[in-house]
Amino acid sequence: MTSIVEPNSPSDPPPAPTNEPAPTTGPALTVTDLHVSFPLPHQGFLRRRGPRQRINAVAGVSLTLAPGGALGIVGESGSGKSTLVRAIAGLQQPTSGSIRLAGHGVRRPGSVESAKDVQMVFQDPTSALNPRRTVGSVLAEVLRVHRPGLRGADLTARLAELMDDVGLPARLLDQRPTRLSGGQKQRVCIARALAVRPRLLVLDEATAALDVSAQIGILELLGRLRAEHGIGMVFVSHDLAAVRSVCDEVAVMYLGRIVERGPVADVLARPYHPYTAALLAAEPSLDTHRRPGTSGLEGEPPSPINLPLGCSFENRCSIAADECSTVRTELGGTTAHVAACLRPLRAVPA
Ligand SMILES: Nc1ncnc2c1ncn2[C@@H]1O[C@H](COP(=O)(O)OP(=O)(O)OP(=O)(O)O)[C@@H](O)[C@H]1O
Ligand SMILES: [Mg+2]
Repeated sequence: MTSIVEPNSPSDPPPAPTNEPAPTTGPALTVTDLHVSFPLPHQGFLRRRGPRQRINAVAGVSLTLAPGGALGIVGESGSGKSTLVRAIAGLQQPTSGSIRLAGHGVRRPGSVESAKDVQMVFQDPTSALNPRRTVGSVLAEVLRVHRPGLRGADLTARLAELMDDVGLPARLLDQRPTRLSGGQKQRVCIARALAVRPRLLVLDEATAALDVSAQIGILELLGRLRAEHGIGMVFVSHDLAAVRSVCDEVAVMYLGRIVERGPVADVLARPYHPYTAALLAAEPSLDTHRRPGTSGLEGEPPSPINLPLGCSFENRCSIAADECSTVRTELGGTTAHVAACLRPLRAVPA
């Protein structure tokens, strides 16, 4: 069953309780022309009556995700990645557009129905866990809400299963998060997300705060969760190597829009958009910290308050033509790998 859902639609009846994700036929996630903007505070008494300016954090994003697929979202700081995925997770009210999930839809932000579909894992596991609660009580609390019938030996077995799913020994259920390493804490956060058996896991820089060995462990865990549980993932990261290892597709965001998207190996090896190429060039490499002969990203993006008429990257693009400042292309084409660029770095198949 699929349903178009406008977030915050309290009149929708809640879905029937279920412990397993409903079978999925169409895409696991379809985002259509999503906009999220934030009002700027009024500046000074005289301007209080005028219309409020708005920051366009997400400015017309459309995407789909196949069941069990993993989509990476990359882009510079401030490009709108977190705002987009918070909207997908039901934690941010969109200004317009729709988010459509297979099975149940995204409902009221933070609601039980919403949580059953999408769970989010954040960057900092320390602040995401109450230091006074044991791991077991953190996980049991979620199970109490989503599976109220689970008690006694069944509850204990499910807690042990969750710990096993994320590669932690069951004995840590009695520990407080303060006794755990960063990697272990993030595994607990992932276990808490898995407790409701979501069909989609949204991870926003979930490895960024961890040391390298913990990062590798979490990336391996995500691969295993995909393979064994078929969970779809939206994976936000500045770390392109992490995106390569977790995802099969990637969307490149710039100033609230997706400017390139396609199979991860293809996009990151043969980018069409100069912005994607610049992101890749800015990626640290082991020997030089920057690929020889490349400049990476220079200059500042335009203001998200007044988005440019043409291509947003035009003022920073070394190969921009005159028309790039007045004509904005959309992500088009019929192939899997597409880019919104008038002057792509290589020929885009028709
Ligand atoms: N609650 C908010 N109120 C006002 N502006 C916001 C709010 N949240 C985000 N923004 C603005 O929206 C834009 C996109 O922010 P967002 O956090 O989504 O970017 P990001 O790609 O996740 O960046 P980063 O890589 O630094 O996490 C930025 O200009 C940011 O300042
Ligand atoms: Mg962010």
